[in-house]
Amino acid sequence: MSDPLRPRASLRTAVVWDVLKDALDRRVKASGRDTLDVLDTGGGTGNFAVPVARLGHRVTVVDPSPNALFALERRAAEAGVADRVRGVQGDILGLFEVEGVEHGGYDAVLCHGVLEYVEDPAEGVRNAVDALRPAGALSLLAAGLGGAVLARALAGHFNEARQALTDPAGRWGDGDPVPRRFTAEQLGELLGAAGLKVGSVQGVRVFADLVPGVLVDTEPGAMEALLKLEAAAAELPAFHSVATQLHVLGEKQG
Ligand SMILES: C[S@@+](CC[C@H](N)C(=O)[O-])C[C@H]1O[C@@H](n2cnc3c(N)ncnc32)[C@H](O)[C@@H]1O
Repeated sequence: MSDPLRPRASLRTAVVWDVLKDALDRRVKASGRDTLDVLDTGGGTGNFAVPVARLGHRVTVVDPSPNALFALERRAAEAGVADRVRGVQGDILGLFEVEGVEHGGYDAVLCHGVLEYVEDPAEGVRNAVDALRPAGALSLLAAGLGGAVLARALAGHFNEARQALTDPAGRWGDGDPVPRRFTAEQLGELLGAAGLKVGSVQGVRVFADLVPGVLVDTEPGAMEALLKLEAAAAELPAFHSVATQLHVLGEKQG
């Protein structure tokens, strides 16, 4: 889904998209169905939902924001996939109260950039897992603790970096816009507690937020080289502890 008009956006999405697309392709092969049912919890304006629908899958987006859902509808129409994208207002913590969302109803569930904002992340993950069919895949993306610590330190905010390290929610102070951050171990534990096996972990935006934008935007070929570097580092556990975001792919038993 790399968008040549929005190269910076692909820095945020490329690693996750590659892993997600692979998981969906594997489900298509294993299930023998070309069209999968996908639930995108907190799917917002459709950064992932619309490209997933373009692969031919049916996507339900549950999000509390009417504005995001409005933008999603417009974006799906522009992409020609309005018939495969359904946006519905709701909360991951009350997932099964949302109209049409069923226990065990989906081949894949996405939960990208949502756990940071919910009161009870464990309940959010349990609901996401509960929505999966047997052998279904959960794609979980959340803010990483180490990346925030590193970013604050490199910006010269050493006290804030230390505060994030010691704060139970990984926040660097009152002005921190992110309510909660996670380590790869914590995300693995959340998945394990919900009965899911961790398939793979990727560090997302290991370098992208640390390098000066001017280097990436003006040097010929720099963006492409950075994307390749991010892809090469994503799977390496050594880099998970400094990534801005962590992506975990979990698989339900078949
Ligand atoms: C950072 S955006 C991520 C959007 C999209 N998943 C993506 O990766 O581009 C977070 C989204 O989570 C939604 N959100 C916040 N709290 C939520 C909750 N309790 N349940 C479901 N979605 C929630 C917000 O409305 C917003 O659309």
